[in-house]
Amino acid sequence: MRLDKFFTAVGLLSRKEAAGATRAGRITVNGETVRRADGHIDEQSDLITLDGVPVGYSEFDYFWLNKPSGYVSATEDGRFPCVTELLPPPYDKRGLFPCGRLDRDTVGLMLLTNDGELSHRLLSPRHHVEKEYRFICDAPLALDAEARFAEGMMLGSEPCKPAVLLCDPDRTGGVITLTEGKYHQIKRMVEACGATVISLERISFAGIALDPSLARGELRPLTDEEIERLRHAAD
Ligand code: URA
Repeated sequence: MRLDKFFTAVGLLSRKEAAGATRAGRITVNGETVRRADGHIDEQSDLITLDGVPVGYSEFDYFWLNKPSGYVSATEDGRFPCVTELLPPPYDKRGLFPCGRLDRDTVGLMLLTNDGELSHRLLSPRHHVEKEYRFICDAPLALDAEARFAEGMMLGSEPCKPAVLLCDPDRTGGVITLTEGKYHQIKRMVEACGATVISLERISFAGIALDPSLARGELRPLTDEEIERLRHAAD
């Protein structure tokens, strides 16, 4: 198949855009930068990349974002920038959305995808997908905080599922593991134990840790193995 036709078939670039992208050196085939869009490729066996991101016949796209502070977990917002604005073209036009929400001032690991079914299953409390957060708070947490997290505390009239709290020795920070995602859940749980969260970072999602090579605001595509792990976690 012609390279430009391949890019239109996967819905990433028009033929004209594919020609521009090859001229700009943005496309590689089996590791070699190609300069012509009318060359032929084998879409089954050749490894094609656009801006370093492998392109396959997959219906969906999956990116890890190291979310910076100041961005809202949405695709549109009248007031603040949205996490999807950090996607590079052409992925900014492929209907990706954040899988779950992090508060505007929360940073760290976030999945952006257009696979609605997988996203829905990952977020469903039925699947108990673990999310780990590193927090710092303004005062030592109450001594019974671990037990209250483990029992499943009440937030107002809302019962929370059991969660794990591992406090730092001075109790003004630590790591919390949740299997659900209620509104401001960690901030409210910490508040219930006598302190206010002053910084919050998601450090893992479904057992996959935030990639230390990903700077705040950066994205990278998931590996095939990571997509498989997410599917497995949401089974
Ligand atoms: N809990 C919170 O309070 N905020 C987040 O962003 C995520 C979990």
